[in-house]
Amino acid sequence: MRLRLLLVATLVLAGGAALAQVVNHDPPVQKIMAAEVNPGALAFWAGGNDPPEDESKAEAKIRWAEAVKGAHALQTSGEELKKYTRGAPWNAFADLMIATGKEGEAAAKAKDVEKAFEIGGRVYDSCNGCHKAYIPPPPKGTVLPL
Ligand code: HEC
Repeated sequence: MRLRLLLVATLVLAGGAALAQVVNHDPPVQKIMAAEVNPGALAFWAGGNDPPEDESKAEAKIRWAEAVKGAHALQTSGEELKKYTRGAPWNAFADLMIATGKEGEAAAKAKDVEKAFEIGGRVYDSCNGCHKAYIPPPPKGTVLPL
């Protein structure tokens, strides 16, 4: 359980740090991240994480439906990202997001918590890999909230 919570926490921080680190924004990519990729990933991860306490059946149904939509958004936004390619590694990370989004969509449709969690880790690898490769380090002396 702790691991699952950690995964989400890491991601939220990673998003904030990404925001803090980018000096020259690439507005179309930034918009895809903020409007599609990040909310999509969070919705999908909510499928593989422990459910909120006292979640009703109806609420669980909504959470899984959102996880399906989120996993689908990872696929479509991955395709969009490739239109803004910066080279082979960029495309490979976008492809990883598309592939894991596809697997994730099936797992979320099946409401398979364990699978969704495992796939969620690989979704995260695509985010983290691309950010590490393409988001420049902050200027010397910058203190990040990490
Ligand atoms: C193919 C490369 C790539 C992948 C894959 C990728 N990102 Fe990004 N992401 C970027 C780049 C580049 C930026 C910086 C955009 C800018 O501001 O210029 C960014 C920025 C962000 C931001 C900050 C957006 C803002 O409002 O400034 C968030 C949040 C984010 N990404 C989340 C994610 C998550 C979550 C995933 C995985 C599910 C992911 N990203 C996958 C390249 C990627």
